[in-house]
Amino acid sequence: MIVLGIETSCDETAAAICKDGDILASIISSQEVHINFGGVVPEIASREHERLLNTIVHTTLEKATLSLNQINGIAVTQGPGLAGTLLTGAMFAKGLAIGRDLPIIGVNHLEAHIFANFLADPTLQYPFICLLVSGGHTQLWIVNKIGSYRLLGQTRDDAAGEAFDKGSRILGLGYPGGPAIQKAAIGGNANAIDFPRSFFKEGNFEFSFSGLKTALLYFMDKPDVLEKYSLADIAASYQKAIVDILTFKLEQAVLHSDVNTAVVAGGVAANKELRKAIESTLNGKRIVFPDLVYCTDNAAMVAYLGELKLRAGKTSSLDFDIIPNLKLA
Ligand code: KG4
Ligand code: ZN
Repeated sequence: MIVLGIETSCDETAAAICKDGDILASIISSQEVHINFGGVVPEIASREHERLLNTIVHTTLEKATLSLNQINGIAVTQGPGLAGTLLTGAMFAKGLAIGRDLPIIGVNHLEAHIFANFLADPTLQYPFICLLVSGGHTQLWIVNKIGSYRLLGQTRDDAAGEAFDKGSRILGLGYPGGPAIQKAAIGGNANAIDFPRSFFKEGNFEFSFSGLKTALLYFMDKPDVLEKYSLADIAASYQKAIVDILTFKLEQAVLHSDVNTAVVAGGVAANKELRKAIESTLNGKRIVFPDLVYCTDNAAMVAYLGELKLRAGKTSSLDFDIIPNLKLA
């Protein structure tokens, strides 16, 4: 089966084609117009999707040497995400589906992030624990099978991605914050500053990052801070605090369950220090990370999950609504 996937939940305009579980083509266009604003401007993002979608979908088809006639279904992100950008993608997908008389599959963006791990390791087996860390979500899930998810815990305030993005803004490093902080931290001493970590009690799977962000804000307000510490030391120490919290919680989740496989999903899964820390802490367990290009927003994960759903007959009706605050379970 061949499925075209479309992703427009935030500021990446993306299309991909999945055939029998393999990605034949995947194009991601990251909207750079937001850089000057220090964050995503929803109205501009919607207009950019509208401007780019047609070309990106057709270029993706060309890259896969396919025509629309050969597609069996269209998968599109239904939520969560920005209302306007989701709507732009869903309307475009519905137009194509009506025009070509094709089934449409509304896909949960969070579920798609989790399934990006099957693209990295098709032999991944259920059940597994998933640390889902994106710009808006930080959650620990037990994934029993497709469609069966149990939430172990989530953040009480900011998401890990938000902690990177807000921290980056405080440090004047720009948006998105994760890659910017990772880059600024290279060569820095991660033990230079002991930023606070919220671990809560043993066996608690909740997260909190707002205290850490505030600590950074107060730290940067101190006089002569940049004479005492290099930016690399500050970025590395801040990054390490986030990595320590995420690694500790994932380790706790694995220890408190009889599940021996852990996967990471979402944009923050691209973080190199997080990957290293999880691999060394969970040494001996099976760990899967998505390929770097499939950590942050992409349509390959949407096409892949869409194909699974299409095979299971789980298509959407053409009048399905986008759901900006769609949950996983
Ligand atoms: O999954 P994603 O692309 O979009 C959402 O669904 O939200 O995640 C975006 C988040 C942003 O907060 C971004 O700063 C973070 O992922 N991110 C990273 C890295 N690359 C992206 N965080 C840490 N290290 C990275 N290398
Ligand atoms: Zn995402």
